[in-house]
Amino acid sequence: GDLDYLQRRPPVVTIMGHVDHGKTSLLDAIRHAKVAQGEAGGITQHIGAYHVDVEHNGEPAQVVFLDTPGHEAFTAMRARGARVTDVAVLVVAADDGVQPQTIEAISHAKAAGVPIVVAINKIDKESAQPDRVKQELTEFNLVPEEWGGDTIMVPVSALQRENLDTLLEMILLVSEVEDLYANPDRPAKGTVIEAHLDKARGAVATFLVQNGTLRVGDVFVAGACLGKVRAMIDDRSQRVEAAGPSFAVEVLGLTDVPAAGDEFEVFTDEKAARSLADQRTMEQRQVRLAQAMAARRV
Ligand code: GTP
Ligand code: NA
Ligand code: MG
Repeated sequence: GDLDYLQRRPPVVTIMGHVDHGKTSLLDAIRHAKVAQGEAGGITQHIGAYHVDVEHNGEPAQVVFLDTPGHEAFTAMRARGARVTDVAVLVVAADDGVQPQTIEAISHAKAAGVPIVVAINKIDKESAQPDRVKQELTEFNLVPEEWGGDTIMVPVSALQRENLDTLLEMILLVSEVEDLYANPDRPAKGTVIEAHLDKARGAVATFLVQNGTLRVGDVFVAGACLGKVRAMIDDRSQRVEAAGPSFAVEVLGLTDVPAAGDEFEVFTDEKAARSLADQRTMEQRQVRLAQAMAARRV
């Protein structure tokens, strides 16, 4: 059966938290620490996702980070019923503590059933009070392990690149108990992470492959858009021929710009793809028309 073909896939991680608590800094620090160890001077392409190579239990492993602002990713994708994140990293600044968007992030992650790893950031600051942060988080049922709870909380400094390996290790630990399996040996399916119109290259989208393998030449439908993969580019600006489960790639070859959160699916039958895209386009047009009529009535 299909179960025979299931293979472990890397976790997909979103970073969430209050404004200025260090989400971007943390992602940059993780990325640079790892890029510096690997290929020198790797100029990264902004595709909205980063693959980080790590070692876990002595084996090479990967973690995929989505760099869309956490709550945007959750709201846009959740509105479409998509679940793209396996683990949420909640960044809380040690000098500022729990703030409104921290609470919002917690409720988004909980609603989506996504496990949370807390990164208590900015511990290099003199005004840092990591224990106060832990105390505040207990009010939201996030109790640190060391206090008898089951939430992993890692003190870090994005600025000084402190404890980032521990954070990655903990993300992998939490991922281990999740059911992260996919079948690479089938047509690809997944979610559009971001999309835009590029002056030179036309419609461009980042696809997160969630099952199967996406290949150059594949015909797909993304939202209501028909496409045929002309080229794929990874986060290191390398052209790739194939992208397996949990891999995010920039895709060229779309006829139109899909929306973030749209699902994409590869079709072996080009006719079926075309008719599905047509049908969805018609449905979208009807929805927009209905909205325009409703707006006119008020
Ligand atoms: P938004 O995307 O605007 O919500 O902010 P963010 O959460 O991405 O925070 P960002 O990474 O932009 O950092 C905000 C400020 O905090 C910047 O001035 C960073 O330099 C600073 N900062 C981030 N991490 C650390 C840290 O570990 N220590 C110290 N001292 N400052 C930090
Ligand atoms: Na900021
Ligand atoms: Mg930011």
